[in-house]
Amino acid sequence: AFAEEFRNEPAVDFTRSEVREAFPAAIATARSRSGQIVPLFINGRDVATTDRLASRNPNRPSEILGQVCQAGSAEVEQAVAAAAAAFPAWRAAPAAERAGCLRRVAALVREQIYEQAALQVLEIGKQWDQAHADVAEAIDFLEYYAAEMCRLAVPCAVGVVPGEENRLYREGRGVAVVIAPWNFPLAIACGMVSAALVTGNTVLFKPSGLTGVIGRRLVELFTAAGIPDGVLNFVPGRGSEIGDLLVDHPAVALIAFTGSLEVGQRIVRRAAPLHPGQRQFKRVIAELGGKNAVIIDDDADLDEAVPQVLASAFGFQGQKCSACSRVIVLEAIHDRFVERLVETARTWRLGPAESPAHAMGAVADEAAQRKILEYLAVGREEGRLLYESPVPEGEGYWVPLAIFGGIRPEHRLAREEIFGPVLAVLRAADFDQALAWANAVPFALTGGLFSRSPEHIARAGREFRVGNLYLNRAITGAMVGRQPFGGAGLSGLGTKAGGPEYLAHFMDQRVVTENT
Ligand code: SER
Repeated sequence: AFAEEFRNEPAVDFTRSEVREAFPAAIATARSRSGQIVPLFINGRDVATTDRLASRNPNRPSEILGQVCQAGSAEVEQAVAAAAAAFPAWRAAPAAERAGCLRRVAALVREQIYEQAALQVLEIGKQWDQAHADVAEAIDFLEYYAAEMCRLAVPCAVGVVPGEENRLYREGRGVAVVIAPWNFPLAIACGMVSAALVTGNTVLFKPSGLTGVIGRRLVELFTAAGIPDGVLNFVPGRGSEIGDLLVDHPAVALIAFTGSLEVGQRIVRRAAPLHPGQRQFKRVIAELGGKNAVIIDDDADLDEAVPQVLASAFGFQGQKCSACSRVIVLEAIHDRFVERLVETARTWRLGPAESPAHAMGAVADEAAQRKILEYLAVGREEGRLLYESPVPEGEGYWVPLAIFGGIRPEHRLAREEIFGPVLAVLRAADFDQALAWANAVPFALTGGLFSRSPEHIARAGREFRVGNLYLNRAITGAMVGRQPFGGAGLSGLGTKAGGPEYLAHFMDQRVVTENT
């Protein structure tokens, strides 16, 4: 009942001059504080290490946002010990107290919304609106999970029989490792961290190496909200150095991960065996990749479909697991759609995210840039380049916005996740074929259909098997509480972030039966 009171944080309103003015001011402030050393946080104390990783502005890599201290095995051990020691008291704390902590963090984030968004503009190159949406989503996760926990904390009576009372309790499992991605550096990190905490687990939080400064800010917010020592520990570090250590550790009860299929597979595999001293099986919560398709039916409203497909494919440089990377167009409308798609794509200007004039900016890092450029070469061989935008001169991890036609379902461009601004256009003979192609990949995260046919809309609802299907709208931007988010297939283990069942995955259940 509590979560029914939940309301999403309002979207940014750029028609208001104070909003337009807030961004450049917040960016300037964030910039003036950049370059500091960012320490770990273990058992309520800062811990500096000598191994540091520079966090760079993708649009201007010479700009260093922070020198992020990296954890090694000693720090991992310390953090696990602190989290394990803090666990019994945190589990025993009333749920309302843990929920109260999340709500205080939400209030703090709301006060700092521009500052937090500005940091994303600089540290990972998010456009203003995207950065604001990310911060708003973090607030939503905090409020929603706080409300959900209050609902779930009431022991529920099950199986009423005379002479017997059955109560079902839920409680935290132990030490949780949260491994977060860079693409929603506050929202997804905050979603996983807050879910683990509010359910009574203690946490080791490893941010992405690309967004350590934002990760540290999240931990500072929880500290300001009064989280007890040892309950939330910040352990940035190289995946190659500490990833396996975190996952293998016998004292770890739960791993929440959002990232690539490759790393997700490794986590699932390594979390399975029991290590000496281990007292419970590890649970893995994983959100992985996508190869998401939008079908354009022959009666689609192109005034809607064209801009929504572009926003889904190229928003934040296509670096969303939810992004559209395949558009499957019915023969009868194909040429008209493609012509308008390319025409509109030409209006997208590329440049640094700190100016709102640029619809698209640089990609996350050099490795992402290299990989995307390789796929552009693959696309040229497999299909026909329909459009490639000009890229800005100078530093920055630039790749063009690219659209390829003539792609067939067996092509790599139709099967492999690129995680960048590359859109493959497939021409389908009819709706049956479009649907079959849409479902042909092992990923099953998001999907979309633009159609006016009630029959096709209903059929897609039944047969387009993805975790989040969107009809006649963009396929990114799931809202907490409204579109519980997560995929099936190889896109994840089936949990839905921001939905009513998410928190259950972070807890064990106990049933107490009393003979009365
Ligand atoms: N939740 C995001 C979206 O829907 C992706 O992680 O776009």
